[in-house]
Amino acid sequence: MKIGMPKEIKENEYRVAIVPHNISKLTASGHEVYVETGAGLAAGFTDEQYVQAGARILPDAASVYKAGDMIVKVKEILPPEFPLLEERHTICTYIHSANRLPQTEALLKAKVVAFAYEDVKDEQGGFPLLEPMSRLAGETGLLTGLFYSFTTHGGSGKIVCGNPGIRPMKIVIFGAGHVGIGAARLAHKLGADVVLMDVNIKQLELVSDQIIPGIKTVFSTHDNIVAEIRDADIVFNCVKWFPGLTLISRDMLKGMQKGSLIVDIDAEPGGAIETCRYTTHEDPLYEVDGIRHICIANLPSSVANTASQSLSNATIPYIQEIADKGWKQAALDNGRLIYGLDFVKGYLTFKDTAEAFGLELTPKEKIFEMF
Ligand SMILES: NC(=O)c1ccc[n+]([C@@H]2O[C@H](COP(=O)([O-])OP(=O)(O)OC[C@H]3O[C@@H](n4cnc5c(N)ncnc54)[C@H](O)[C@@H]3O)[C@@H](O)[C@H]2O)c1
Repeated sequence: MKIGMPKEIKENEYRVAIVPHNISKLTASGHEVYVETGAGLAAGFTDEQYVQAGARILPDAASVYKAGDMIVKVKEILPPEFPLLEERHTICTYIHSANRLPQTEALLKAKVVAFAYEDVKDEQGGFPLLEPMSRLAGETGLLTGLFYSFTTHGGSGKIVCGNPGIRPMKIVIFGAGHVGIGAARLAHKLGADVVLMDVNIKQLELVSDQIIPGIKTVFSTHDNIVAEIRDADIVFNCVKWFPGLTLISRDMLKGMQKGSLIVDIDAEPGGAIETCRYTTHEDPLYEVDGIRHICIANLPSSVANTASQSLSNATIPYIQEIADKGWKQAALDNGRLIYGLDFVKGYLTFKDTAEAFGLELTPKEKIFEMF
């Protein structure tokens, strides 16, 4: 298989899809890999490392899309990439097509095959290509929150672990999922006074008994939230938003300490944190009613080296299988991969996107009969 890896063009995206030690696996099994010059540089991987791993370096995205039959990326396909798509391409990347109509239309129009990392599902119903990034989002969100609590960044001037005779910071975390556990584990290790809140008692039991023994957990209700955020130094929102869910309304900010910080890792403007609006790594903070807010949507990009390695280590078995067998046989053989097969040669095979945009859904079984 000829595999192309372009450089990411999304703003503030520093990750690269495949790191050199995984490129070596592909080239060792006979695949040709074409890498856009500088694709790995921001994540700490040079063109020379890719050449040593057996890849060929090409000067721009257009030549990578021309050379590759399979295109491997990190983020969704953006408008400058639309004209580079060809019918022979199999795309592997995060796609999130259900809220990106122009990309959905471009993928259908170009008649490519596309696997969405976020939809690959394991036997337990988990998402093996999302989870490594979720954990990192919790950890980087926590570190970002602590950094912006320094006096030198206009923060409360408290250190997370306290000092002899001085209390540690109180950190309240909403959501005991992958992101929330990432944040809670690190906060707990650093000596914070952590309160982890969720509506799923079984999950709280699992976390406090096995994953982070000794962590304080509180059932998430409006009254409990009001009580816990009153003296919190930082609140982290790690709950996946759904319409109607409000955890902190603007009115509730009055009940928090002035100068305290909300880090909305879910980062859904107007979502569970009513006062959330997007911020960036360059301009991370704003204040509403004396409460500071950070709502950065691509936190793992700030640890691009670790994030690229984690992502690449998780995706490489699937990329290898698609490269070895082709999209159809790989999807037929691999019960996890088939969930990620969202676009096939002009047909949409992902229910959520079909429902979101009123588009025709073609069942995957039918696709296998057609091609
Ligand atoms: N900002 C970033 O860079 C970044 C990166 C990765 C993920 N995320 C986002 O973080 C969010 C969480 O991801 P995840 O993988 O941990 O999700 P998850 O589904 O594994 O966990 C969410 C948890 O929230 C709990 N929950 C639901 N309603 C609640 C309530 N009212 N109060 C408290 N807890 C409640 C659920 O029971 C669950 O345990 C997602 O929206 C995801 O898109 C953001």
